[in-house]
Amino acid sequence: MSLTQFSTARPSPRAIPVPKVTVPALGDMKRQGKPISALTAYDYATARLVDEAGVDMILVGDSLAMVVLGQENTLAVTVDEMLHHTRAVRRAVHRALVVADMPFGSYHGTIAEGLANAVRFMKEAGAEAVKIEGPRVELVRALTQAEIPVIGHLGLTPQSVHRMGGYRVQGRSTEAMRELETDAVALAAAGAGAIVLEGIPREAAAQITAALSIPTIGIGAGPDCDGQILVFHDLVNMTFAPPAKFVRRYADAAELFRGAVEHYREDVEHRAFPSDAESYHLPKSAIKAMQVDFADDDAIVNRDAWDELSQELKQA
Ligand code: KIV
Repeated sequence: MSLTQFSTARPSPRAIPVPKVTVPALGDMKRQGKPISALTAYDYATARLVDEAGVDMILVGDSLAMVVLGQENTLAVTVDEMLHHTRAVRRAVHRALVVADMPFGSYHGTIAEGLANAVRFMKEAGAEAVKIEGPRVELVRALTQAEIPVIGHLGLTPQSVHRMGGYRVQGRSTEAMRELETDAVALAAAGAGAIVLEGIPREAAAQITAALSIPTIGIGAGPDCDGQILVFHDLVNMTFAPPAKFVRRYADAAELFRGAVEHYREDVEHRAFPSDAESYHLPKSAIKAMQVDFADDDAIVNRDAWDELSQELKQA
């Protein structure tokens, strides 16, 4: 158990009220030409850091399956697992828009099933929008009519990994580009509040972005989208794999954490941790009252530490 508290005596930036980012606010940002920043997060601590850094949108992505749960692809993660992580993120976030990724299988059956699962993300986890992959126009319409904001996701859609034959860049021909644009326009007309464009040529993303009145948020789609999203673990090098072309690593958390953990292990092994200052102590009166049998050598495991304590008891 950790007794460490997340709150501190100093007021955090969270004490200052800030306007909540909403799906309509993302639309305003597009109209005002303000780039939208988005990142994934899957737990309280990370989501809190991302929110406090002023990122506009936090996606509890199903990439959770790979970067947090160590699975080979995103297909196995369940609604209950996604709900669990979305709740943790929601508790941390004050400003950013919290979007829950609907996992594979949770919206691929009937519209009613998709709707029921989306309602769970809003009701049970506090999500403020859901994201679904592919041109599921009827479902987007049904969710919108049910007051559930939807973010679409087109291009390289990881839940279609088997149909695509791997994680391949999409929209590389003029025909494929046109198809993507048609899908994007249809999703927007059905009520999508924004569309993630993943793994498509910059030129295709630019054309789709220009054609839509709702924002596009790119990942591996070039700089002309209305916003950008990355997987948090890619950003800080916590993925144990060479990064994709579109990833920029802003920190090396793997090196930082590995160094910290090795240092801790060495300190424990050399009895350099914890120090006396990091230990709790009896009150002096209790120490005086203790009748310690200093002669019982057999019971003493660490002679140096015991001698030090004996000295302290004598001086007390
Ligand atoms: O699950 C995820 O992290 C995503 C982003 C890559 C957009 O869908």
